[in-house]
Amino acid sequence: MTIRRLQPQDLPAYFYLRTALWPDSALDFELEVAQILSADHQVGFVAEQEGALVGFVEVSLRAYAEGCESSPVGYLEGWYVAPTHRKTGVGRRLVEAAEDWARAQGCTEMASDSEISNTQSHQAHACLGYQEVERIVCFRKSLQEVET
Ligand SMILES: CC(C)(COP(=O)(O)OP(=O)(O)OC[C@H]1O[C@@H](n2cnc3c(N)ncnc32)[C@H](O)[C@@H]1OP(=O)(O)O)[C@@H](O)C(=O)NCCC(=O)NCCS
Repeated sequence: MTIRRLQPQDLPAYFYLRTALWPDSALDFELEVAQILSADHQVGFVAEQEGALVGFVEVSLRAYAEGCESSPVGYLEGWYVAPTHRKTGVGRRLVEAAEDWARAQGCTEMASDSEISNTQSHQAHACLGYQEVERIVCFRKSLQEVET
């Protein structure tokens, strides 16, 4: 198992993993991944086994994150391991790579989020030392004509 930085040649295998995590956002992937590959404030790491990608983590620098006392903080934007490779330590190694990168950027804290219903993610975060600090309800209102 190799953990390494995302590279342009990882596409479209990377899109496949991303779609598994975010099935409703696939239309935006090309632009988002192009930014990850070129930006200084966010990176992606992949887990590769026998030439196949089996997981990824995306980490960014955020000026603010709930519960944190420093700025910027390293933020886990996305974290995914293929079902066939879960609970074997791949996710931990990906997060460690993300944390090493954030540390190298001068960060002293990491942060992350997860849907309230994703209790498996909550447990995995807890195992890696992430403490729950807040629960958030998101709202939306259209500013266009009244929707029918
Ligand atoms: C969350 C996820 C990335 C973890 O990946 P993984 O490769 O299984 O993680 P690891 O095997 O490295 O496990 C890391 C720690 O979390 C624990 N853990 C992992 N999955 C768990 C689960 N379902 N329930 C309880 N604990 C779990 C492991 O026991 C381990 O702790 P330990 O080292 O103290 O034993 C993976 O389950 C996944 O892709 N889930 C679907 C997508 C998702 O929910 N992503 C997070 C969105 S915020």
